[in-house]
Amino acid sequence: VSGPNIRKVTVLGAGLMGHGIAQVCAQTAGYDVTLLDVKQEFVDRGMSMIRDSLAKFVAKGGLEKGKADEILSRIHPTLDLRAAVEKSQLVIEAATEDPKLKLDLYRKVSEHLPPDAILASNTSSISITLLGSATKNPENVVGMHFFNPPQLMPLIEVIRGAKTSDATVEAVRVAAKQMGKETVLCKKDSPGFIVNRILLPALTEAALLVSEGVATPEDIDKAVTLGLSWPMGPLKLLDYVGLDTALGISEVFMQEFQDSKYRPSPLIRQMVRAGLLGRKSGKGFYEWGSPSSTKSSSGK
Ligand SMILES: NC(=O)c1ccc[n+]([C@@H]2O[C@H](COP(=O)([O-])OP(=O)(O)OC[C@H]3O[C@@H](n4cnc5c(N)ncnc54)[C@H](O)[C@@H]3O)[C@@H](O)[C@H]2O)c1
Repeated sequence: VSGPNIRKVTVLGAGLMGHGIAQVCAQTAGYDVTLLDVKQEFVDRGMSMIRDSLAKFVAKGGLEKGKADEILSRIHPTLDLRAAVEKSQLVIEAATEDPKLKLDLYRKVSEHLPPDAILASNTSSISITLLGSATKNPENVVGMHFFNPPQLMPLIEVIRGAKTSDATVEAVRVAAKQMGKETVLCKKDSPGFIVNRILLPALTEAALLVSEGVATPEDIDKAVTLGLSWPMGPLKLLDYVGLDTALGISEVFMQEFQDSKYRPSPLIRQMVRAGLLGRKSGKGFYEWGSPSSTKSSSGK
């Protein structure tokens, strides 16, 4: 990769993360964006989430209506993988968090991707090195881990796989800057990268405090918001993330690090069995009313 001049970007997956990433690419970086999913209804839903988000920016006075229309006109929905990737300088993959599904997708993308184009994954837990191994040019494969919602969260973790080149790392740091984001570099492809590696054990510990009867969920959250200045307490955050998602990440940590300090909390496991997943199921550590329809159950 010779520091490509990025103009055309393709985002694979038009879900919760993909639609937001596509919007940031068009809105802040000014890229020409193709947004791909596997069914027309999924790309339609992604485009409608982008329209809603742009309308919110306009309503809050952060964006002119004409500018919002112009941004929207730079985002092209499609189902055609070949056409989407063959002219792109950067492909950002935000498809479902399933290793087999992603590996199949990387093989297909690799057939049509220009040899100097970058393939970046937004995965939260799957090895970048493994994803790279499914492609012809693993030196061009890198992690670009956005936070939810991508339109507002200022950070991207950049993850170097075992074969990722310096030029690829540098190119995605430049792209992130064009998207208005700050970056940090994970020099190794390690589970949970930086943020989730620190967060998950803290969430598990909070659940242990509940199951040991040390304090109520309300007091644990009050302690952490007031004592550590977290914007949200760990148990409320667990309800937002989804207890099933949190359990999934803990299990990846246990398997990859083989260290009992990452053992999932038995209480979280039991709550997942009971369908108490947090906000999306209507109840977790707190009551949320009717299940939220917008939050999918895939990875954080
Ligand atoms: N949800 C979060 O807070 C969060 C945060 C950071 C990273 N991530 C990561 O982002 C990725 C997407 O997560 P999400 O929450 O947006 O999930 P999501 O379920 O909302 O969206 C995934 C989309 O990918 C589509 N898809 C499935 N197979 C595909 C294929 N072969 N080609 C193109 N699209 C395909 C699905 O139809 C769906 O629309 C995952 O890797 C996840 O780990 C999620």
